[in-house]
Amino acid sequence: MQAANVVDGRAIAAQIQQELAARVARLKSRGVVPGLAFVRVGEDPASKVYVGRKEKACAELGIVSETHVLPEKTSEKELLALIGQFNSAAHLHGILVQAPLPKHIRESVVFATVLPTKDVDGFHPVNVGKLMLGDATGFKPCTPAGVVELLVRSGVKTDGAEVVILGRGNIVGKPMAAMLCQKGKAANATVTICHSATRDIKAHCLRADILVAAIGVAHFVKADMVKPGAVIMDVGVNRVPDATSKTGTKLVGDVDFANVQPIAGKITPNPGGVGPMTIAMLLQNTVRAAEMAA
Ligand code: GUN
Repeated sequence: MQAANVVDGRAIAAQIQQELAARVARLKSRGVVPGLAFVRVGEDPASKVYVGRKEKACAELGIVSETHVLPEKTSEKELLALIGQFNSAAHLHGILVQAPLPKHIRESVVFATVLPTKDVDGFHPVNVGKLMLGDATGFKPCTPAGVVELLVRSGVKTDGAEVVILGRGNIVGKPMAAMLCQKGKAANATVTICHSATRDIKAHCLRADILVAAIGVAHFVKADMVKPGAVIMDVGVNRVPDATSKTGTKLVGDVDFANVQPIAGKITPNPGGVGPMTIAMLLQNTVRAAEMAA
């Protein structure tokens, strides 16, 4: 039994998937089956796991997905040509190129090649721009969108809240800040982004009503960095040694959950918090892309 302040990301994601099932049924009654292409380049072990989970979630919802696994040595030109084919394929409503890509391929060029209307990751410059402008016609990146949805569905008010985000990456930190400082519902927060050059991260964290950890360091956020009652969203996925597990490793978040949970107002577990929401938001973006195309 989880403590009452633990936010159950799996249950909230399941609820969203149920809501999406009705939209998929409506699309199918009009002869439209949502379609999503996954592209994975090379054999990054974490990417294999992530894409596998996304494929399974698509299948459960009735989204038809196809996964294209390309060898590590694939050239940027070859990858762009494949994306070009997907851009013009009518049965595909979404395209997801799993990051990270091999070093010889420029991620920014790849993301900019995906048609903005099929960019269910929300990484195309047009969609990034729309997010900055508060234009809701774009696609929002799945992980920060999932965090916002978790806050909303667990009754956390962001209006006027002090939000501190650890991490300034393009996939989580920066879009997270853009979403939460926007004027509007589930936003209106005062946002601080901390990163590797921040002078006193602990002082910033201690001010936070809502702390989003996306820094990629196992158990970085300790109990003495958290204001009692603060809401903690743990985005981190870090593999650490674990003698008790079969694989000799386990996944942990950026937050020292065991010690932070007792003082937090609300906290996401890891796994079972933000991760399932990333997938739910990908499904939501794909269903929306299919509705827009229909
Ligand atoms: N790598 C880590 N997170 C993501 C994501 O949300 N989308 C893609 N395409 N790659 C990722």
